[in-house]
Amino acid sequence: MIRRPRRNRQTQAIRDMVQETTLDLQDLIFPLFIIEGENQKQEIPSMPGIYRYSIDTLVEEVRACVELGIKVFAPFPSIPEEKKDKYAKESYNPEGLFPSAIRAIKKEFPDVALVTDVAMDPYSSDGHDGIVENGEILNDETLEVLGKMALVQAQAGADIVAPSDMMDGRIGHLRKVLDENGFQKVAIMSYTAKYASAFYGPFRDALGSAPKAGDKKTYQMNYANSREALIEAELDTLEGADYLMVKPALSYLDVIKLLRDNSNLPIAAYNISGEYAMVKAAAQNGWVDGEKAMIEILTSIRRAGADIILTYFAKEYAQYLSKK
Ligand code: PBG
Repeated sequence: MIRRPRRNRQTQAIRDMVQETTLDLQDLIFPLFIIEGENQKQEIPSMPGIYRYSIDTLVEEVRACVELGIKVFAPFPSIPEEKKDKYAKESYNPEGLFPSAIRAIKKEFPDVALVTDVAMDPYSSDGHDGIVENGEILNDETLEVLGKMALVQAQAGADIVAPSDMMDGRIGHLRKVLDENGFQKVAIMSYTAKYASAFYGPFRDALGSAPKAGDKKTYQMNYANSREALIEAELDTLEGADYLMVKPALSYLDVIKLLRDNSNLPIAAYNISGEYAMVKAAAQNGWVDGEKAMIEILTSIRRAGADIILTYFAKEYAQYLSKK
């Protein structure tokens, strides 16, 4: 035998040397959940280790993460039911929970980057990402709401706005609104290929944002399709997106690779709540080694071609690195 691939696997030093994919903390974005009130820290039952924070405890959590080396965060607000309405008006209240949280983080940590979610569902009494009229999602009317929401986030200090709604034309509309208001520097991370997935369950528990009726299949993509992701990627690029995202990540590694091979923009992948919950549940039962599973999963998403990963594991991975 002349060819013996095992030679390159003989020792840890050699394995490390030939390793193709790296997993650096700087490539991870940590999502955070925010609630009203003071001195609140509520664990999300379906996401062990992940909490909803009031703004004061949120700032302390960001401090702990910054000390561990995390620099980019993706906050999401949990809005009380009585502040929700059909048109998600609370989403563009400049004094609302979300812009207040953005200001509080940026005031304390000006060097931290914030990726802010643009979508109606946390604020919508229908629990949808668009305005619902007679059971239909109104696309162009929804764009108006998204524009106002993104502008309030930019004014509060968001570095990157991230529309997760999947309405047609939203990237172009947000770019126009941001530019017209002097926010040329605020970037857009588009949830380009966001699929109608069963794995969003724990996130919807965290925010109480599940649809009250129907599903999201007229706007989120059918998970049986990958070419359709290229159509979305082309439009987002033409409309001015600075980043393309694939969501979820694990069942969609081929889509990550497809966008990586067809775009020169940075590709992000969202390792979502249900993917996190599965690992935690199995680890709690002693069925898998949670830490090893975390690293394998995150590395596989990077190997598929993601430059950036949004993941609930970010802090745990940072803690792992700091004790290594
Ligand atoms: C909503 C939104 C969702 C997530 C991020 N933004 C859920 C949904 O579309 O219902 C999911 C994130 C996760 O599951 O971790 N616009």
